[in-house]
Amino acid sequence: MKNKYAALIICLVALVIIEKENKIISRVSDKLLLRQTLQHPDALSLYNGSSALVMEDGSEMDMENTTQFFEAEQGGRRHVLLLAATRTGSSFVGEFFNQLGSDMFYLFEPLWHVERMLSEDMATPNATISSWAYRDVLLSLFLCDFSLLERFINPPPDAHVTQALFRRDSSAALCEEQVCSPVVSNVYEKHHCKARQCGPLNLTLASDSCRAKEYRAIKTVRVTQLETLRSLVEDARLDIRVIQLVRDPRAILASRMEAFSSQYQTWKSWAANGEVPVEDEEVKRLQGNCNQIRESAELGLSRPDWLENKYMLVRYEDIARYPMQKAAEMYRFTGIPFTSHAREWILKNTHASQVASGVYSTQKNSSEQVQMWRFKMPFKLAQVVQEVCGPTMELFGYRFVDSEQTLVNKSVALLEEKQFNLS
Ligand SMILES: *[C@@H]1O[C@H](CO)[C@@H](O)[C@H](O)[C@H]1NC(C)=O
Ligand SMILES: *[C@@H]1O[C@H](CO)[C@@H](O)[C@H](O)[C@H]1NC(C)=O
Ligand SMILES: *[C@@H]1O[C@H](CO)[C@@H](O)[C@H](O)[C@H]1NC(C)=O
Ligand SMILES: *[C@@H]1O[C@H](CO)[C@@H](O)[C@H](O)[C@H]1NC(C)=O
Ligand SMILES: *[C@@H]1O[C@H](CO)[C@@H](O)[C@H](O)[C@H]1NC(C)=O
Ligand SMILES: *[C@@H]1O[C@H](CO)[C@@H](O)[C@H](O)[C@H]1NC(C)=O
Repeated sequence: MKNKYAALIICLVALVIIEKENKIISRVSDKLLLRQTLQHPDALSLYNGSSALVMEDGSEMDMENTTQFFEAEQGGRRHVLLLAATRTGSSFVGEFFNQLGSDMFYLFEPLWHVERMLSEDMATPNATISSWAYRDVLLSLFLCDFSLLERFINPPPDAHVTQALFRRDSSAALCEEQVCSPVVSNVYEKHHCKARQCGPLNLTLASDSCRAKEYRAIKTVRVTQLETLRSLVEDARLDIRVIQLVRDPRAILASRMEAFSSQYQTWKSWAANGEVPVEDEEVKRLQGNCNQIRESAELGLSRPDWLENKYMLVRYEDIARYPMQKAAEMYRFTGIPFTSHAREWILKNTHASQVASGVYSTQKNSSEQVQMWRFKMPFKLAQVVQEVCGPTMELFGYRFVDSEQTLVNKSVALLEEKQFNLS
C-alpha cells in the first residue's frame, strides 16, 4: 500500500514541478493525475502529516507543510455534513447553518465540481471511484484545504484564484469582507457576491477564513451512501456530525419533474399518458435511489459505533411544519450554539408570504409548499413511487394513498408522526 501512495504522491510532486515550470497544467496531465488519484482508495493519506516526500531516486522533497492538518482540532471545532438528495429542501436547510454568523464556514455543493469532472472524464463514472473522490474532497475541505478541490475546478484556478467556484454566493463565508478581493476590471464576474462587489475568489483567503472559524458545514446532494463516509467520520482530526435530510419520494419526483424538466421528459410523458412501464430504466433508477437513501438511514439509525451520537435523520416535512423547533434540535445535536442571527433568518424565511421565485429559492412559505406536490402529480405516478419506494416510505413514515381523491384531499395527512434519533 505504501508504495502505491508513494507513486501517487510522486505524481503530485511531479505535477507541482511541471506547474512551476510551465505555470499551466494541461488538461491532459490534469486528467491523468485525477485518474491516478482516484485509483487509490486510500487517497486520504494525502492528508497524512508527513511533510517530506521520498522521491523515486531516494531524495526527499518538501511538497507542502502538511503538519497544519494535524493541528489539534480541539476546542469547540465542529464539522457538520448535511446529506440529502436533490429537491429535498437541502438548500433551505443548509441556510440554517449558513446563516449562523461569523463563526461558520459553510460550503454549498462543492462536490458539484467533482461530479462534473468525473462525468466529463468517464462516460459512466464508476460509483466507487466517485465515492472516494467525494469523501476525500470533503475531508480536505473540512480541514480548510482547497488544493484537492482545485484539481476538479474547470478552468483550473490560476495561483489559487478562481472565478469558477460553483455558487460562491451561496456561502456567506466566501462573501465576507476578508475573502473579498478587489474587482478586476474587464473581467466578467460570473460568480459575484450579492453582499458586496468581489473579484475572483482567492482560495488562499478562503482557506485562511475557514481556519479561523470554529464551525464548518458542507451541504451535498452527491453522496448517496453513508457507508462510504466511514473513514471521514472516523478521522481523528474532525469532530463530525452527519445530518441526513429526507423527503417523501413522491414529492421529490414531482419537484424534480418541475425543476429538471428536460431530464424528466419520460416521466412527463407517462404523467400525460397515464401509463408507466414499471420495467423501464427510469423507474429502476428511482428505485435504486430510494434504496440507497433507505440503506443509509437504516445504517445511521442502527447506531454502529462509528456513528454513535454522530448521525441524525430529519424529514423535510417536519422542518417545514416546525422550522424553529427542528432547527433547534439540529443545533443541539451538532453542539453548535443556535445564534439569534440564524433564528431571525428562519423566522423571516418561513413566514414569508412571497412564493419561491427560482428553483433553488429558499424563500417560501414552507408549510404550504410542502404539500403542493399532491396537486401536481397524477395518481398513477404516485402509485408507481409507492410501488418501488415502498420500504423507504414506510421507514420514514410517509403514508400511501389509494386513490386520486385521497391524494388531493388535504385533510388526509400523508405524514405519520414519527420520532427518529431516540437517545
Ligand atoms: C498515516 O501515516 C501513518 C504513519 O506513516 C500510517 O501508519 C497511517 O496508516 C497513515 N494514515 C492514513 C489514513 O493513511
Ligand atoms: C509547519 O507548520 C507548523 C504549523 O503551522 C509550523 O509550526 C512549522 O514551523 C512549519 N514547519 C515548516 C518546516 O515550515
Ligand atoms: C469501479 O472501480 C472499482 C475500483 O477500482 C472496481 O473494483 C470496480 O470493478 C469498478 N466498477 C465498475 C463497474 O467498473
Ligand atoms: C491571495 O491571497 C493571498 C493571501 O493573502 C496572497 O498572498 C495572494 O497574493 C493572493 N493571490 C492573488 C492572486 O492575489
Ligand atoms: C403559510 O402557509 C400556512 C399554511 O397554509 C398558512 O396558515 C399561513 O398563513 C401562511 N403564511 C403566510 C405568511 O402566508
Ligand atoms: C377528505 O378526507 C376526510 C377525512 O378522511 C373525509 O372526511 C372527507 O370526506 C374527504 N373529502 C373528500 C372530498 O373526499
